[in-house]
Amino acid sequence: MPLLEIRNLVVRYGEIEALRGVSIVVEQGQVVTLLGANGAGKSTTLRAISGLAKPAAGDILFDGHSIAGLGPEAIVRLGISHVPEGRRVFPGLTVKENIMLGASNRKVSASQISREADAMFDLFPDIRAFSDALGWTLSGGQLQMVAVARGLMAKPRLLLLDEPSLGLAPVIVQAVFRIISQIRKDTTVLLVEQNARMGLSVADHGFVLETGRIVLGGKPDELWGNEAIAAAYLGGHAKTHA
Ligand SMILES: Nc1ncnc2c1ncn2[C@@H]1O[C@H](COP(=O)(O)OP(=O)(O)O)[C@@H](O)[C@H]1O
Ligand SMILES: [Mg+2]
Repeated sequence: MPLLEIRNLVVRYGEIEALRGVSIVVEQGQVVTLLGANGAGKSTTLRAISGLAKPAAGDILFDGHSIAGLGPEAIVRLGISHVPEGRRVFPGLTVKENIMLGASNRKVSASQISREADAMFDLFPDIRAFSDALGWTLSGGQLQMVAVARGLMAKPRLLLLDEPSLGLAPVIVQAVFRIISQIRKDTTVLLVEQNARMGLSVADHGFVLETGRIVLGGKPDELWGNEAIAAAYLGGHAKTHA
């Protein structure tokens, strides 16, 4: 049984049909990347999974059970953690406190949470120096690391990552994707990306969304191998075979 299965999902914002029958399967232990242009419905898909957008039709199965219509808190408790677009952090808190907030769904002691937050800095050494500082100023990449670390503190079975590379310098994007490759050992990841090359580099499977519909799905090699499709959807950098 797949960890996550989305069946014919429809989501509307008033008159706008953002998702028009999306079906996606994410197997346990995979990194699955959802690609697509701005406005294709990538964020809406993640918001529907995490309970922030209500499905108008279709179903979302987690571990074989429908979670469509559950509220965000119930979904977090089931083990789904959503790192939304835009790296939200709380400037009045230290970096470590920001990270610890991610564990608010878990029934563990404050000291245990504190130890786990400290351990996050092994995964994100670039932000260790800011751990206990107030009045910190972090770069975009560092803010993204705080957001991902907070998502991981929920000990999710499924981590939803919305455009972690957006606006970051290539070297920082590589650092973020290195972390995604590391956490995949314990966590299944559904990653949203506009940067197809980066998104597929860590993926076991990819899907391409276009105006609310999945137009393509396959292993990264298969997606790159289809030159017409790669040119149309993946940025025109299709491999050329002799
Ligand atoms: N809160 C909202 N209200 C109305 N329309 C929205 C809202 N959020 C997204 N949309 C619309 O839904 C479609 C999909 O948006 P979104 O899921 O954010 O796409 P993506 O993440 O792929 O850029 C777009 O047409 C967008 O304008
Ligand atoms: Mg988006």
